[in-house]
Amino acid sequence: MAAGQGTRMKSRVPKVLHRLAGRPLLQHVFAAVSQLQARHVVVVTGNGAPEVEAAVAGWAHGAGSPAPKFARQEPQCGTGHAVQQAAPLLPDDGTTLILNGDVPLIEPATLLALAQSSGARKVALLTVDMPDPSGYGRIVRSGDSVRAIVEHKDASDEQRRIAEVYTGFMAVPNGLLKGWLGSLSNRNAQGEYYLTDIVELAVRDGIEVAAVKASDTVQVDGVNSPTQLAALERAFQLRQAEALMQQGVRFADPARFDVRGRLDCGQDVTIDVNCVFEGHVSLGDGVSISANCVIANAAISAGAVIHPFTHIDGEKLGVRIGEGALVGPFARLRPGADLGPEVHIGNFVEVKNSTLARGAKANHLAYLGDTSVGERVNYGAGSITANYDGANKHRTVIEEDVHVGSNCVLVAPVTIGRGGTVGAGSTITKNTAPGVLSVGRGRQVSIAGWQRPKKAGK
Ligand code: UD1
Ligand code: CA
Repeated sequence: MAAGQGTRMKSRVPKVLHRLAGRPLLQHVFAAVSQLQARHVVVVTGNGAPEVEAAVAGWAHGAGSPAPKFARQEPQCGTGHAVQQAAPLLPDDGTTLILNGDVPLIEPATLLALAQSSGARKVALLTVDMPDPSGYGRIVRSGDSVRAIVEHKDASDEQRRIAEVYTGFMAVPNGLLKGWLGSLSNRNAQGEYYLTDIVELAVRDGIEVAAVKASDTVQVDGVNSPTQLAALERAFQLRQAEALMQQGVRFADPARFDVRGRLDCGQDVTIDVNCVFEGHVSLGDGVSISANCVIANAAISAGAVIHPFTHIDGEKLGVRIGEGALVGPFARLRPGADLGPEVHIGNFVEVKNSTLARGAKANHLAYLGDTSVGERVNYGAGSITANYDGANKHRTVIEEDVHVGSNCVLVAPVTIGRGGTVGAGSTITKNTAPGVLSVGRGRQVSIAGWQRPKKAGK
């Protein structure tokens, strides 16, 4: 169910598309559902339906579960009404698992337990004991057996004292579900068709209602407001940090760490405060990430050190950093940066779509774009490759053991021959032979006795 308005988010973005750990809430729910081998997946959309459907179609493509179907619910008259819209798309046999699209951290194992507990015969509800149950539907029992779910707004004072609440997840045999949906009414405090009323209908028909209790509240926490979204984000990030610490990763502060994607770590990895990892990042044995680094889609090999304030974004091409390389502080590695072992990239150096072989160094204020850099090259402070002629990009080749002085411009396409030297301040437009010194700048002129201009009257 993803049709609700999300009024309390006070946003133009449909609630289920707000992001937790970099992914829309509904995508988290989908990730859990895609583990279940469901025969059909139906998404009920309403508010922001075109946007939500386009997003779902995008990420569901190739996710392993059947292509989702959409049921439009317009207007939105409650959760029972939402499921009524989906019913024609459901087969008559089997069991339907009904999920809230705004509860992102539900786990596949919990959903399986719920489906198993239904056993194609019973109604199974996922419940949890809430320290503060206000706002939720209360589980009303007589003895051990569940009799009804009563929404907070319809509950008596006595019922409001019940701590066990409905989480928004249930499993119902399809034949029974389709029958009960037809008998829902909207005579209640909110004038809505409540899905939760099917519990009373089950009891009336002598169908058993089982309650499965969730082990933690994080798994069943819904997002209704920016405050709840932020709280759930922190809970989720802390869980990810905890899982990495179990593997031996050492954090300066697990509360100041964010993974928005997947982070794989070897042994003896250390991560300082305020680091953000996006997409897929892997850190080899002994890698050290200093404070305030943002790293996306990169593979960092054993022993590499990433100094503070480094920004790495591999996007689609990826970034690779070789063993023992030193990067930063304040370095920027862009898509296709491929650093060999022991490479040094220093402060304010930008590297894009370039390969640097073992031991090459660019330590200060430099740009390398569309360049192949040989082993042991030293690329001077302030030097740049002019790789773009306004229409096309061209490659620069700097062969092994070249020394490029400070403040040079290498105008691509151009090759600097092996072992050559480029004098400081040169603009190089022609290929250079191996071993030569190339200087491409105005000759120095020194004029003796030169008088500086003076201000009038002095
Ligand atoms: C619902 C339950 C309540 C439970 C709580 C758990 C009902 C009547 N109440 O209440 O017992 O404790 O979830 O979080 O089911 N939606 C639609 N169409 C609609 C209305 C809602 O698709 O017309 C979707 C929403 O997008 C959301 C989900 O259903 O994903 C739950 O809706 P919401 O309005 O948040 O229900 P609650 O009042 O929280
Ligand atoms: Ca809700």
